[in-house]
Amino acid sequence: MENTNLGAARAARNDEFYTQYHDIEREVNAYIEYDPDVFRGKTILLPCDDPEWSNFTKYFAQNFDRFGLKRLISTSFAPESKRYSFTYEPTLFETLDPRFDEDMTKTRGKIFILDKDNTGDGRIDVNDLQWDYMEGDGDFRSDEVKRLRDEADFIITNPPFSLFREFLAWIVEADKKFLIIGNMNAICYKEAFPLIKGNKMWYGCSITGGDREFRVPDEYPLDAAGWRIDENGKKYLRIKGVRWFTNIDHGRRHQPLPLMTMADNIKFSHHKDVRGHDYQRYYNYDAIEVPYTDAIPSDYEGVMGVPISFLDKYCPEQFEIVGHSLQLADMNAIKAALGKAGGGPRFYLMKDGVLTRLYERLAIRKKQ
Ligand SMILES: C[S@@+](CC[C@H](N)C(=O)[O-])C[C@H]1O[C@@H](n2cnc3c(N)ncnc32)[C@H](O)[C@@H]1O
Repeated sequence: MENTNLGAARAARNDEFYTQYHDIEREVNAYIEYDPDVFRGKTILLPCDDPEWSNFTKYFAQNFDRFGLKRLISTSFAPESKRYSFTYEPTLFETLDPRFDEDMTKTRGKIFILDKDNTGDGRIDVNDLQWDYMEGDGDFRSDEVKRLRDEADFIITNPPFSLFREFLAWIVEADKKFLIIGNMNAICYKEAFPLIKGNKMWYGCSITGGDREFRVPDEYPLDAAGWRIDENGKKYLRIKGVRWFTNIDHGRRHQPLPLMTMADNIKFSHHKDVRGHDYQRYYNYDAIEVPYTDAIPSDYEGVMGVPISFLDKYCPEQFEIVGHSLQLADMNAIKAALGKAGGGPRFYLMKDGVLTRLYERLAIRKKQ
């Protein structure tokens, strides 16, 4: 079993994953394609960032004019407040600036603002960014960053993994548009699920499977699978199950899934466990099990359980979300059948006389 200190260290370093430029670009492009004016005249806040090497700051600064932004603000967290300690070296950009302060560079957050052409070259871009030390350490929960949040129209970032729930609640309480990246399973958190169910938050569209590579600090111990060092010595890790979470509209979510009827699925499905079999009913919830999103029967009117990855294809005009197995499963039925509690609230299937616990499922129903 993992010892708690080790677990805490791992959790702390999981807060230091830096998003790559092309991942940001691919995702934001989808919103621009759907509505070219989505950011026009708007203020974007990039909190929990490290503006000097953040690709979020670079990307939005480079596209400031094209998107018609009013103001771009990014804030970073003080090195000494981070839970994961690594050797901190301020960049030349900072040390060569007359404002450089040896103490503040470690204990204060930094703020970068872009709202006008300071270089006089007729464009607003990354060269026009103005920076300063913050009053505090840049914690998103501080009054200082809350004021910036309240002034912004959009909050966009990759928040610290260990504070994902708190971060989401922080955005929602201010009722802001957002685009954040996190683990796909976060949808089952009590802060997140009501938003998914109520169509107030959905998955973004550029990541629907596989894994994504994130840059990690140079000292990051490469003891996990899926790492790489590039030709400049920068380290990257591949992370599974990553998704964008947003309440900004995009085109993919309005495209209904093309589906076959139940009879056709049973006849023609390319899934061996669907073809030639009846759809099974759960033992502890009144719904049928649909093990794959592309095996959802188009003509079934009742409730169906589907894997969470259904959300990659979810079109709210086609289906409604009823709940998820963690909330809906009747565990008394399992206790009565097994004489003991099962392994946590999930839907169960009777397979060859054995009660089998499934992965997390979403319960959905065709939109009337
Ligand atoms: C997952 S990293 C992502 C950084 C950047 N947004 C990117 O994707 O390139 C999250 C950052 O938030 C910082 N952080 C951790 N706790 C924080 C807090 N309470 N307030 C603000 N930032 C925090 C971490 O130190 C880390 O730099």
